[in-house]
Amino acid sequence: MNKIKIAIIGTGSLGFSIVKGLLDSPLKDKIQLIATKRKLPEIPLVKSEHVLFTTDNVLAVESSDVIIFSVQPGQFPLVVEQVKSLLKNKVIISTITGLTLNTLEAMLGNECDIIRSMPNTAIAVSQSMTCLSYHGNGESIKTAQLIFNTLGKTLIINDELMQAATVLGASGIAFWMRLIRATTQGGIQLGFDAHEAKAIAVQTCLGAASILAENEKAHPESEIDKVTTPKGCTIRGLNEMEYRGLSSALIRGLTSSYEMISQIKNDIKG
Ligand SMILES: NC(=O)c1ccc[n+]([C@@H]2O[C@H](COP(=O)([O-])OP(=O)(O)OC[C@H]3O[C@@H](n4cnc5c(N)ncnc54)[C@H](OP(=O)(O)O)[C@@H]3O)[C@@H](O)[C@H]2O)c1
Repeated sequence: MNKIKIAIIGTGSLGFSIVKGLLDSPLKDKIQLIATKRKLPEIPLVKSEHVLFTTDNVLAVESSDVIIFSVQPGQFPLVVEQVKSLLKNKVIISTITGLTLNTLEAMLGNECDIIRSMPNTAIAVSQSMTCLSYHGNGESIKTAQLIFNTLGKTLIINDELMQAATVLGASGIAFWMRLIRATTQGGIQLGFDAHEAKAIAVQTCLGAASILAENEKAHPESEIDKVTTPKGCTIRGLNEMEYRGLSSALIRGLTSSYEMISQIKNDIKG
């Protein structure tokens, strides 16, 4: 079987996590990776016959079939200028926040299939939730799904929902971290040392998520019913949290982030 030739243009925080995740995955022997960045000496040491690091975007694009653009939005126009004429029949995957499919098509032309992706930092441990949107054909999206399913899970969404995906999935990592930190602090107040409290909070969070991840029919509320005995301590704690605004604070936080991201997008347009 021919290897999938993948170029990662922009090997920063996200690009490097993609490289690392792919090299740690079962796909490793089925891919040929070439990864670019401007300052090569800063690349963390990775020795693998499966990846070549270079500053040469043209070489990377010319020698690959799938091109993952992972630079900052402001860095993208220069990259486009360098490689636009080489993109014919390639599968293009953009991770760049804020650039819609229509914008990407206007910048890159219509001779390639373009897929927009929104992963999160859990991609570094192959547990990303990656939302994908596309206008292209079925084969290209399958390639994107193959890559990102190796690095976590994927969901295909309408491009209009990408801002919402950025808040719920990418910013979501920060929201969950804060919840884990808060429960850790509560655990310390109840008598655990910081290390023990964090271990209990993290594993309990993972356990709750796994119950839902492993059974599509499971619902958070029915799982809560299983641990709340009438007049018991769990329902009392939960009701106190709700009285203090737990659910509404989270929902308002999400909508507030969404308003901000929409504002930034309008500012860019204007
Ligand atoms: N981080 C995340 O979890 C995340 C999640 C979702 C989406 N995104 C999006 O993904 C993109 C990358 O994010 P990031 O956090 O990885 O940013 P980052 O750490 O700043 O990485 C950007 C990389 O692009 C490289 N670069 C810049 N110009 C280049 C050029 N002309 N040729 C080759 N490489 C070039 C930079 O190289 P040098 O360091 O050598 O200058 C840097 O390594 C952004 O658009 C971001 O919005 C990120």
